[in-house]
Amino acid sequence: MASQFLFFAFLAVTSSIALASDPSSLQDFCVADAMSSVLVNGRVCKDPKLVEANDFFFSGLHLAGNTSNAVGSRVTPVGVAQIGGLNALGISAARIDFAPWGLNPPHTHPRASEILTVLEGSLRVGFVTSNPENRLITKVLQKGDVFVFPVGLVHFQQNIGNVNAVALVALSSQNPGVITIANAVFGSNPDIPADILAKAFQVDTNAIYSLQSKF
Ligand SMILES: *[C@@H]1O[C@H](CO)[C@@H](O)[C@H](O)[C@H]1NC(C)=O
Repeated sequence: MASQFLFFAFLAVTSSIALASDPSSLQDFCVADAMSSVLVNGRVCKDPKLVEANDFFFSGLHLAGNTSNAVGSRVTPVGVAQIGGLNALGISAARIDFAPWGLNPPHTHPRASEILTVLEGSLRVGFVTSNPENRLITKVLQKGDVFVFPVGLVHFQQNIGNVNAVALVALSSQNPGVITIANAVFGSNPDIPADILAKAFQVDTNAIYSLQSKF
């Protein structure tokens, strides 16, 4: 009886441990075969004998992204779509450019934690903890400062200077995913019915129609 209890206690503990990143690789590498139409959790591997240095390479992060848009920021991702060799490795990177006072608006990465390094300028960054606290954890960063955004939490970065800002981020997934809150809530296709959002946000439906018209 005691051993049965221990067995089930062990099961309960181990089955509740969540993986903190993509699972470990089962081989040296699995370069994504861009030609394959097979859908798996990750991508089909290219024949290792045909793999070359360029499968692990990307050029272009020295180039500033175009920030001429409504929010004044641009993310240039370097994930498995840009480097096939990232497939199954559980990491990726991105460059973020900010115009003066530009904003990378509140969003989450469902599959990755993020670590950000400021290369140029000053950023106000923050993330919000989950229910019921919903505590905003925020800080102003200068060049060379590093900040972490835990997986899944809503976060943002804002340039608080009159000059351009640049950040480099690393993410704990080859394919972190991005859910931008405003776009998901007010810009879904088709729209979430306005009465649902009116009740959720405790405003009248005209306020919802106004927001939906912007996304
Ligand atoms: C940047 O984006 C804007 C808006 O889409 C466009 O008009 C402009 O030509 C772009 N600039 C460059 C340098 O590509």
